[in-house]
Amino acid sequence: MEQSHLNIGIILGSTREGRVSPQVGAWLKELADGRGDAEYHLIDLADYPLPFLGHSGGEDAIQNWAAAIGRMDGFVFVTAEYNHSISGVLKNAIDLVRDEWGNKAAGIVSYGSTGGARAAEHLRGILGELNVADVRIHPTLSLFTDFESFRTFKPAELHHKNVNGMLDQVVAWSAALKTIRA
Ligand SMILES: Cc1cc2nc3c(=O)[nH]c(=O)nc-3n(C[C@H](O)[C@H](O)[C@H](O)COP(=O)(O)O)c2cc1C
Repeated sequence: MEQSHLNIGIILGSTREGRVSPQVGAWLKELADGRGDAEYHLIDLADYPLPFLGHSGGEDAIQNWAAAIGRMDGFVFVTAEYNHSISGVLKNAIDLVRDEWGNKAAGIVSYGSTGGARAAEHLRGILGELNVADVRIHPTLSLFTDFESFRTFKPAELHHKNVNGMLDQVVAWSAALKTIRA
């Protein structure tokens, strides 16, 4: 199947000052771009000053956010673990859009003291409700061994294989699911 036209969004799921997600996103983007199988786009929540769902204001940001998600065929969520789940800003951003997520594929890259595994499992439940097909292979980054002083990202080489395995599946499923969207 022709896959070069696929757009895959790498979503940075944290916005706090001092966040590490941009380092993880830049690393993923470089690995992904090297594959040449899709157009990979960094989607940074910090670029979308979204209001809380149900609060007034921020209509332009919501529209821009929905349009950015709508343009994508698949996603890679970069998620930290906040109190055993995803960040509030990521959950709110996911909740603000509905139809634009549906019938698309997603991979998850998580980080935390236990590789962000609990956040990733919560995210899978949320994605299921939105008809997003999340792939099994899930790179988990440890705050203890993949970051220096919890701040400077120094990923172990072994993660490359998992990232590629995850992207193989995201690209294949994104191409397949594209055929059933109007
Ligand atoms: C509010 C808050 C709650 C956190 N809870 C957890 C947690 O439950 N498990 C964990 O492994 N790390 C936890 N952490 C540590 C974060 O995973 C770590 O600070 C990570 O760098 C946050 O991602 P960010 O730098 O992209 O914002 C928490 C951090 C914050 C700010």
